[in-house]
Amino acid sequence: MCGIIGYLGDREATPILMESLKRLEYRGYDSAGVAVLADGAGADRRTSVTKSETKVDVLIEKLQANMPTGKLGIGHTRWATHGKPTYVNAHPHTDCHQRIYVVHNGIIENFAELKSELEAKGHEFTSDTDTEVVPHLIEANYKGDFLAAVRAALKRLRGAYAMAMFSTDDPELLVGARLNAPLVVGLGEKEYYVASDITAIIPYTKRVLVLGEGEVAAVTPLGPQVYTLDGHTVKPKLIHVDWDVTQAQKGGYPHFMLKEINESSEAVANAMRGRLTDDGAVSFREFDVPDEDLKKYREVLLLGMGTSLHAAMIGEQVIEDWAGIPARAEDASEFRYRRPTFGKHTLGVVITQSGETADTLVGLHQAKERGALTVAITNVVASSAARDADGAIYLNAGPEIGVASTKTFLAHLMSLYLLGLRLATVNGRVSLERRDEIVKALRALPGQVDELLARNKEIAELAHRYSKYRNFMYTGRGLGYPVGLEGALKLKEISYIHAEGTTGGELKHGPIALLDDQFPVVAICTASSTKDKMVSNVHEIVARNAPVLALITEGDKSLDGVATDVFEMPEVEEAAAAILNSVMLQLFAYHVAVELGQNVDQPRNLAKSVTVE
Ligand code: G6P
Repeated sequence: MCGIIGYLGDREATPILMESLKRLEYRGYDSAGVAVLADGAGADRRTSVTKSETKVDVLIEKLQANMPTGKLGIGHTRWATHGKPTYVNAHPHTDCHQRIYVVHNGIIENFAELKSELEAKGHEFTSDTDTEVVPHLIEANYKGDFLAAVRAALKRLRGAYAMAMFSTDDPELLVGARLNAPLVVGLGEKEYYVASDITAIIPYTKRVLVLGEGEVAAVTPLGPQVYTLDGHTVKPKLIHVDWDVTQAQKGGYPHFMLKEINESSEAVANAMRGRLTDDGAVSFREFDVPDEDLKKYREVLLLGMGTSLHAAMIGEQVIEDWAGIPARAEDASEFRYRRPTFGKHTLGVVITQSGETADTLVGLHQAKERGALTVAITNVVASSAARDADGAIYLNAGPEIGVASTKTFLAHLMSLYLLGLRLATVNGRVSLERRDEIVKALRALPGQVDELLARNKEIAELAHRYSKYRNFMYTGRGLGYPVGLEGALKLKEISYIHAEGTTGGELKHGPIALLDDQFPVVAICTASSTKDKMVSNVHEIVARNAPVLALITEGDKSLDGVATDVFEMPEVEEAAAAILNSVMLQLFAYHVAVELGQNVDQPRNLAKSVTVE
């Protein structure tokens, strides 16, 4: 997600903001901006805002050419969510009178209703961002006390935010706030920083306060005070960090991949944020097709490559099951050479993390030419796929640096589930009870992912034992099949171990010939509808002496004493299990690769985004 930095101290703010933004650029680089409050009193005290509609370097050039002076400032590097990466959408954002300046990381879920309310009161908006409601809302609550106005405004926000802000009326007050997005306050010598992560401030200080959820830091030259939204004082946690910049960018994890797997619960929550109401209504801001129109689409074509193809295969099953309309997932690179039968009653769903995969873009263009309505599910706002498709569903997962996709795969699954639920609703294919069950299951996922991540050590121990094998088979049925394919892909991508996937049924039609005591099988046995069949398959595998690592629902004893290892998963909806099982298999692959000493973030022969066919 976006990077934010705020500075208050006795040095010039601009050079510090520039350096910090450079270090934060790995969090997003769609656009950047700073606001610096000039020293002086009365009319001399003006705020200088500098923005770039592209990378931080361009912002730095502008600042070097015209360096604003002042000892209080905020800066931002943007990973676009609401609104394209343009000059007006770049942060900081301000109120109607250019008194209040805000930078924000996160998503304000209820920004549309707040915006209408504020517009009705006469507030004028200039950007498409969700963030801009914040300075206006603070302005609407301002009665001479900036901090009180901030607290009152924040109480109205739903969603996720980490913010740094100031008001021209309070030249010695820098305010930071967080909810569902991290924020730290750095303590220097007569100077203080507010930052979205430690990376921004690591060269300046090692002493950092970590803000808790729903807390607000009021930073003055005397130091920071931390409050709840109700104004009660709290004692924040002080930590000492000993990281260098690269370690800090990795959040203290040894690899980006592990950091990104650990961001899965946030990615899953962000893919849902602002899109799913408690009663199961789903809406996508950039794919806003009325129910009556959406109903006309009689089939769904899902295109993707690599990990995104596996997401498509899961989407295919879920859409067919929930919405009752034919769905098919296709390897986008093959699709273009066929003469497939589809047309204007087809909804073409293009799945691509980067939005730039050439094979997938060709498929998208072909689907469009044939008259399909197209939507890109992508992590990159204004990417080619988002631009070329009729609509976009953004993952909002934040940048993914590890070449092997992890958190974006899970965000893709969540986005496809929401699309499935939307199609099921418009087609009248889902009862209210069933919809409730699905909504409950999806909402519980971020917490369940966190519980699974806490079992990292258990998974690392399994990986340690299995890392000695040179071949792996992954098998499952239903959603377990593409989950297995993705598990196998993850393992081969980063460990260079041969791994393949097959359905439980297909196993005995050929692949079983490969198995022996040196060829382990990862068997996904959590799905209740096919579990018994998978248990029989595991017996067949064990009879060939192959070691078996089985993923099974907790409390299920059917593979005790049969599988070599059993990894218990919580009992959840099958769609939810696909997400949890995938997280487990990502961690497993990661630990095997680390065990073998491989470069997990940059595996050989692979590229994050493949822009050639
Ligand atoms: C490359 C990457 C894969 C990725 C695939 C599709 O091959 O190495 O990890 O799954 O492209 O990428 P996309 O950005 O379209 O999801």
